[in-house]
Amino acid sequence: MNPLRPAILAAAGSSKLKDAITRVPVTAAVVRRFVAGEARADLVPVATALLESGRSVSVDFLGEYTTDRAQADAAVTEYLSLIDDLAEVDHAVPGAHSEIPRVEVSLKLSALGQSLGQDGPAIAAENLHKLCTKAVERHVWVTVDAEDHTTTEDTLDAVRLARAEFPWLAVALQTYLRQAEDNARDLATDGTRIRLCKGAYQEPATVAYRRRAEVDASYLRCLDVLMRDAWYPMIASHDPAMIAAALTLASENNHSPGDYEFQMLYGIRDDEQRRLVSEGHALRVYIPYGTQWYGYLMRRLAERPANLAFFLRALTDR
Ligand code: FDA
Repeated sequence: MNPLRPAILAAAGSSKLKDAITRVPVTAAVVRRFVAGEARADLVPVATALLESGRSVSVDFLGEYTTDRAQADAAVTEYLSLIDDLAEVDHAVPGAHSEIPRVEVSLKLSALGQSLGQDGPAIAAENLHKLCTKAVERHVWVTVDAEDHTTTEDTLDAVRLARAEFPWLAVALQTYLRQAEDNARDLATDGTRIRLCKGAYQEPATVAYRRRAEVDASYLRCLDVLMRDAWYPMIASHDPAMIAAALTLASENNHSPGDYEFQMLYGIRDDEQRRLVSEGHALRVYIPYGTQWYGYLMRRLAERPANLAFFLRALTDR
């Protein structure tokens, strides 16, 4: 783990820091490196170019921990339009239109109302149902992001419930959580899609592994479960060791490329993304857009000291 990560994630909670950083125009190169832009119109050319390069996409309309019903409703409205726009982009770009949708949306249940008090989980579940219904109509996939550990149980419950009707609905599992392997075993059944990531939030040692070696070992245990039992494992990592392990496990379990996919974040390891595609692997890029980019950007900065240095230089050079 980056030794600065806890400090950066803790500082990210300061409203003064948030005010200072969000004054940086989103066009600033440092924000644009990780975020496609503030509007859907900015996202469309980015998604188009990625599809044209042979990659698939998963798009996140940024927003989290919504405390206002109107904001949750607005997020649903935006996602409904996003699903339409992505379906149009998919049709417009030539290429293999297989059963595996090339376009997907990623969403956070806290943006759909999960944190709206006692009724929050039910509101988020209803909104998730609405979006999955629309996604089926447009041949678009949906994956539910994993947020901080206080939301994990509600999120997994909502996904289990929705999967009865939408078995292709995926969820992200964070391997820094001590419960990750149990969750992987529980969820990895025929027909399941699971996105396996290490985890990006600041979590207490009671629930999460803190040492990098432990998080990686947990990733490898979960990967083993998914490669054996899940229908379509999604390896969401930039780590060469995790990618190599996935390839070995895929071969041991007689999977062909296309039975699973690699996933990386927009702006990270672009060369490696292209290399995997050129070798015939399926690769999906997670692209965020929207005005609420602060939390997402801070998690990316916390992952890598070099990103923080780049960001601070960009701020002081303005
Ligand atoms: P690790 O952090 O060990 O990095 C390995 C290498 O990747 C680094 O050495 C560097 O080369 C490169 N790298 C990693 N992060 C970088 C960065 N920020 N900038 C530049 N280079 C970087 N988390 C979560 O909690 N909930 C979620 O729902 C998701 N969803 C999600 C979807 C997808 C598609 C991806 C790829 C990731 C997520 N994540 C996430 C984030 C994830 O949990 C994790 O924080 C990052 O992916 C970094 O972990 P790595 O596995 O890449 O390994």
